[in-house]
Amino acid sequence: MIEVNDNFRLLPVSYLFSEVGRRIAAFKAENPGKEVIRMDIGDVTTPLFPSVVKAMHEAVDEMSTVEGFRGYGPEQGYPFLRDAIALNDYRQRGIDIMSDDIFVSDGAKSDLGNLGDIYSRDCTVAVMNPSYPVYVDDSVIDGRAGVLTDGIWSNLVYLDCDPDNGFLPKLPERHADVIFLCFPDNPTGVAIGKAELQKWVDYAREHGSLIIYDSAYEAFVRTPGIVRSIYEIPGAIDVAIEVRSFSKTAGFTGLRCGYTVVPKSVKGRYADGSEVSLNSLWNRRQTTKFNGCSYVSQRAAAAVYTTGGRHDVKAATDYYLHNASIIKEALVKVGFKAYGGDDSPYVWASPCDGRGSWDLFNMLLHEFNFSTTPGCGFGTLGEGYVRFTGFNTLENTRKAMERLVEGF
Ligand code: MLT
Repeated sequence: MIEVNDNFRLLPVSYLFSEVGRRIAAFKAENPGKEVIRMDIGDVTTPLFPSVVKAMHEAVDEMSTVEGFRGYGPEQGYPFLRDAIALNDYRQRGIDIMSDDIFVSDGAKSDLGNLGDIYSRDCTVAVMNPSYPVYVDDSVIDGRAGVLTDGIWSNLVYLDCDPDNGFLPKLPERHADVIFLCFPDNPTGVAIGKAELQKWVDYAREHGSLIIYDSAYEAFVRTPGIVRSIYEIPGAIDVAIEVRSFSKTAGFTGLRCGYTVVPKSVKGRYADGSEVSLNSLWNRRQTTKFNGCSYVSQRAAAAVYTTGGRHDVKAATDYYLHNASIIKEALVKVGFKAYGGDDSPYVWASPCDGRGSWDLFNMLLHEFNFSTTPGCGFGTLGEGYVRFTGFNTLENTRKAMERLVEGF
């Protein structure tokens, strides 16, 4: 028998959303007549846009001809999509990102974990507490997390987010090499302004740190002055990698396509001190371990940048934001403290009655038959909270919140 990666023993038995899914399935099996409304994982419910579907049909037809058939594509993504991303998401917004800074992927989650391949095992990683569990779990798998005591990993730097700081963490007191930031945030739904994010960019520049900026929810930003891309911040182009996804903006959770921006100006150093661009390392990593996202998915993603596609992104994100506002209103009505939901599909909430997250999850599931995500799954400071998503249909969102308001 081979020796396996011992770090897996350190992980929670199952990934947060797998555990939530398991408990919902068990509840349904015990209560076959009950209709459970899913408000846990951030999975979209509106169908693919007509422009996206048309592009996919055309791509399939193209692939079915001798002339149009394509085998392996470029590992970095097809130029038509890299160009469309660089132009529409960056240069037209005054941000100097070029096509060869863009790496198309099968989604943000894989890249957020895989980026660990390009920085040293000895790097100290900072994460917001609470945060999307992928940052911590991947740090554990890669051997960077240390020892777990009372929910805290000894080698991670925690950036505490709580109501007192508006869920916007303070700069770390201990040095951090790699800093994961997510705004609009998953799970708290809180977004960040330019002056606040500038502090992090300045910190990274001063301390030689790398920021991995998860902006999977940028399309939900509506408030003027709120950041959509970290590259809006002067100096970020030298210290930040940005990870994005078409999942939540264009309904690609089942289709799969995302991208990561690694500007050529972001540098690291080898153990002997010699400098190297992270773009070249990521390129080397991707060409070795990834064969690209499917041509059909990439054509679908390119259609998101057409006039019809942009219109549909706005309509879909408006729809989910409206759901989030319904959730927030209902929660406030029943006396919960509720955060986020304005520039984000997520609402972070607590009845502040000392109940733990799993107890809350169980109570909401058993009494009102809707599911949430327990806040403690995102970190110790998530204890006592649950996260709601606005990604269900309007009808189901209303139904779930009516059950809560009538029965709580
Ligand atoms: C979430 O619910 O946090 C996300 O949908 C999970 C993911 O994107 O992997």
